[in-house]
Amino acid sequence: MPRKIIVTSALPYANGPIHIGHLVEYIQTDIWVRFQKMSGNKCFYFCADDTHGTPVMISAKAAGIEPEKFIEKIQKEHKADFDRFLIEFDNYYSTHSEENRYFSELIFERLNKAGSIVKRNIEQTYCENCRMFLPDRYVRGTCPRCGADDQYGDSCDKCGGTYQPTELVNPRCANCGTKPVRKESIHYFFRLADYEKQLQNLMASGYVQKSVANKLDEWFKAGLKDWDISRDGPYFGFRIPGEENKFFYVWLDAPIGYMASMKNYCDRNGLDFDRLWPGRNPADKSGDGYEIYHFIGKDIMYFHALFWPAMLTGAGFKTADKLFVHGFLTVNGEKMSKSKGTFIRASTYIKHLDAEALRYYYAGKLGSDVADIDLSTTDFVNKINSDLVGKLANLASRSGPMLTGKLDSMLGKLDEEGTKLINELLSAKEQVKKDYENLEYAAVVRTVNNLADIANRYVEQKQPWATIKNDPEKTRQTLTATINAARILTAYLKPVLPKLADKTEKFLNAGPLSFDNIEKVLENHKINQFERLFERISEEQVKAMTEESKESQPASQPAQTPAQPIAPECTIEDFAKIDMRIAKVVKAEAVAGADKLLRMQLDVGGISREVLAGIAKAYTPEQLTGKTVIYLANLKPRTMKFGVSEGMILAAGPGGKDVFLLTSDTGTQPGQRIS
Ligand code: MSP
Ligand code: ZN
Repeated sequence: MPRKIIVTSALPYANGPIHIGHLVEYIQTDIWVRFQKMSGNKCFYFCADDTHGTPVMISAKAAGIEPEKFIEKIQKEHKADFDRFLIEFDNYYSTHSEENRYFSELIFERLNKAGSIVKRNIEQTYCENCRMFLPDRYVRGTCPRCGADDQYGDSCDKCGGTYQPTELVNPRCANCGTKPVRKESIHYFFRLADYEKQLQNLMASGYVQKSVANKLDEWFKAGLKDWDISRDGPYFGFRIPGEENKFFYVWLDAPIGYMASMKNYCDRNGLDFDRLWPGRNPADKSGDGYEIYHFIGKDIMYFHALFWPAMLTGAGFKTADKLFVHGFLTVNGEKMSKSKGTFIRASTYIKHLDAEALRYYYAGKLGSDVADIDLSTTDFVNKINSDLVGKLANLASRSGPMLTGKLDSMLGKLDEEGTKLINELLSAKEQVKKDYENLEYAAVVRTVNNLADIANRYVEQKQPWATIKNDPEKTRQTLTATINAARILTAYLKPVLPKLADKTEKFLNAGPLSFDNIEKVLENHKINQFERLFERISEEQVKAMTEESKESQPASQPAQTPAQPIAPECTIEDFAKIDMRIAKVVKAEAVAGADKLLRMQLDVGGISREVLAGIAKAYTPEQLTGKTVIYLANLKPRTMKFGVSEGMILAAGPGGKDVFLLTSDTGTQPGQRIS
């Protein structure tokens, strides 16, 4: 009986391009899905763009378009990228869809009915200028642990410390720079701890890999906390039923997107969703016996091992059979880096290199564990040239042209040694299948390489290039074995290299390769014209790719550098509140311990004021003394570490040396109001 299987990959965020880190996951999943299909199983692969949340909202605003338009554009790009890398989804959908709204509301209501949703008043960071609550990543300031400047609201890049946004020294809104305030609001929480028992059972049933289970143990021991599942508007997401200005947190509706993508597919293809993913109808607990698997990266384990199965359980839906967690990609042993050019977009890679080279390389690195995998650029070039081209493709290219050119494109019969060779190759089949099933792709690649070595040795011993001169029939026998060897090994790697397999199938002229027809040896069979299977690659191509990646930085990576949209509009009345005066700098001096600051004594028409200004990199005290400047007189005095600054003087510029003071022409008097 063929198995029935549903497979998902994590839904990529709709706020940035697909990069080679993401591709680890989509390639890993795609190989597994292709393997299942090639084994005769019924298998569906569903995915979608994860479209909601603050980063998308802010990126859209920065791009000056509506979020709906923004996510549409990104989805097109994502789809094109996946196509180029031969990732074959059965449906690629969006979390911003009616199906997803429907299931989100349904699950929320069921959890609510089950008593697993509670409301609580919480205090949060709020930007009065942007009129929005700020997620931790959108508050920046000085690390309270080590003093490093410009750190996130939840953790410090320098010392690795974690803290609450309230602990930040000099906190500011990452969007507009305003100092945020604390504000209360009612939030909805999901009581995860209600499901502790069921979750424990799920883990005991082998839901996750060993090392993941260990991590989960730590979380169980630390105690399962309530999960905040609502966000106040403005927010790009689904409004919570019965609420004016509260929305489902993006992570509530994101995994539900797996269902939405599937529902959309079912509706378009005459399938009954409830038979595939049972639970909507409480009476039907088994459906048609589909297995469900989620592929995810280790960074989103908490959501998929705890929240998601708990939500499904609480709402009466089937939970996945297994979670496959993979590690992170590093390039040359380090985190992908924009400045080093190793933060490589899918679209940049494909301009320089072949998708199957990356698929092959990742496959050669992937196992079933959660270890990070490293893309070493030198190793990459070597593996492609010596193994993929030098061993596998070589078998076909040293036999195909000779057969078509000199032996009428006809295969003969295997001789005894040829039969022995083919049987040896075939005997690896069950192990290869087991390795695919268990996500041990590196083992598959190793097996194929070893077998390719054996086959190539056979060719070298038989010397077809020499025997062709006086013994064409013996040569035909040799080449028949070689071609059959290439056929078997190509079939083994077909889930990894679908395009190469396709070319081989055309050339072999015997239909699609599958695990079921692999034993059928091709004898006395006519083959087609040979097409080169794979080109060697060079260090230069890789270098060109990294060079290009250095220049083309993703337009918006809000998690790292929030975009700077135009602040909410202010009226002319707002602006009229500002009281600007002419002031004369009486004295300017450096501030000990603060290399950016200058302390200035101002004469504002007989009134003396002291201000601290961050312009020491741009002006010396001497340059300033005696200058006439513009002074913001009614700014609330600010207590800083180095004293109180009473108002401020107007200057503008990107910062550092590039700050330009607004000075005044003669004819103005200190104290004079200007507009
Ligand atoms: N939107 C969420 C997933 C929601 S699933 C209901 C998300 N998106 S993501 O775009 O950041 O990542 C998508 C997947 O790619 C995740 O499984 C993530 O672990 C994986 N990877 C992202 N960067 C990666 C690497 N550098 N290396 C390996 N996998 C990486 O998380
Ligand atoms: Zn703000």
